[in-house]
Amino acid sequence: MCEHTDFHYIDDVLSCEDVRLDHLAETYGTPLYVTSKRSLEESARQFEEAFASLPHMTCYSVKANFNLSVIRTFARQGFGCDVNSGGELFRALNAGVSAEKIIFAGVGKKDEEIGYALDSGVLMLKAESLSELRAIDREASARGVVAPVALRINPNVTAETHPYITTGDSKEKFGIDEAGLEEAFSLLRTLGSVRLVCLDMHIGSQIFDPEYYVAATAVLLDIFETAKSLGFSIGYLDIGGGFPVTYDPRKPATPISHFAEKLIPMLAPAGVPVIFEPGRFLVANASVLLSKILYRKRNHTGKMFFIVDAGMTELIRPALYQSHHEVLSVTRHEQTVVADVVGPVCESSDFFARHRTLDDAAEGELIAVMSAGAYAAVMSSNYNGRLRPAEVMVDGSNVKLIRRRETYEQLIADELF
Ligand code: LLP
Repeated sequence: MCEHTDFHYIDDVLSCEDVRLDHLAETYGTPLYVTSKRSLEESARQFEEAFASLPHMTCYSVKANFNLSVIRTFARQGFGCDVNSGGELFRALNAGVSAEKIIFAGVGKKDEEIGYALDSGVLMLKAESLSELRAIDREASARGVVAPVALRINPNVTAETHPYITTGDSKEKFGIDEAGLEEAFSLLRTLGSVRLVCLDMHIGSQIFDPEYYVAATAVLLDIFETAKSLGFSIGYLDIGGGFPVTYDPRKPATPISHFAEKLIPMLAPAGVPVIFEPGRFLVANASVLLSKILYRKRNHTGKMFFIVDAGMTELIRPALYQSHHEVLSVTRHEQTVVADVVGPVCESSDFFARHRTLDDAAEGELIAVMSAGAYAAVMSSNYNGRLRPAEVMVDGSNVKLIRRRETYEQLIADELF
């Protein structure tokens, strides 16, 4: 079904931990994101266990799921955060993450965001271009502080994943490539209000083959040696996120331990703590998107559609990356049917599954779109005047509402005549 056992059938009803999903739908309505707290904690535990022998810091990449309660769950495990904007920094701080565990990333930070990060006292700001280094220096100098910075390296390693989520290739906008580094190091020497504390990379997302990390880490370590020989004293190496999860049981993800086995022997001799920025790995399989079958429709070609009350506005991954998500019937049926599972949005890309064998559930019944914890709620929108769903977190037999369903009033609240 999925990597974690916290979504399972109890008496033929799909449940999250000890709570039946049909009961959640009755109480909170649909569409509804349902998150298992135990799954979050379990993926955190797996990650930490894999890298236990390496001095490191895990900074949860909040872009994957920025709900305050999710961030807080990881903060309580001692994790820091990787944030990509002022808004994510605001969320992380409000979730209770201390600033000295927050890394501020992003290829296009505005002066106000740099200022906000400096005023908050974040662990470091990543710089992805020479102009950005100068901007950080300016903001720090105006405040009379020295900004700790990481240089994001573009190692020119093209990891095999969806082209929209590969980031370590020199044709992409991310990081500074090797040819630009000499200039970056010279510039760093002349700037009085920045201090280089870390070398960083992030080669993409949902990467199955550890060899891409090995290749990119080799480049990073080379640069680390060069920087040391130039007199920089670098306190951390950050190898980013991107670790894979299983969306499709026919394509199981490489276990995290395989990444650790390759990376620990390479990174340990560097003698500095390593920063990891996992997002998807920690959250993807901890949530489902619960939705109701509004209508079943068979067209004249015999094709069957399940029209459900969630759509691409709640989970855009199939539309954007052609990604596979399992769709399970909340109540089990013996009979199956081949159908497309589609939403109410006026786009043909508004689908969760195509030509999929599904339980032969009736109108009014519930389905769960699995693996909806990462890049789902965070990428949701109000397109078509849709209201963002409520979110609940299950902990054993306890359920907490962690985000209220949006209202029509909220849709227009910021508009002026
Ligand atoms: N660090 C940096 C600098 C990143 O840009 C990202 C993700 C991460 C860490 C976390 O990567 P993860 O461990 O989650 O793979 N919306 C796409 C994924 C975009 C990833 C963007 N950067 C999707 O739904 O597949």
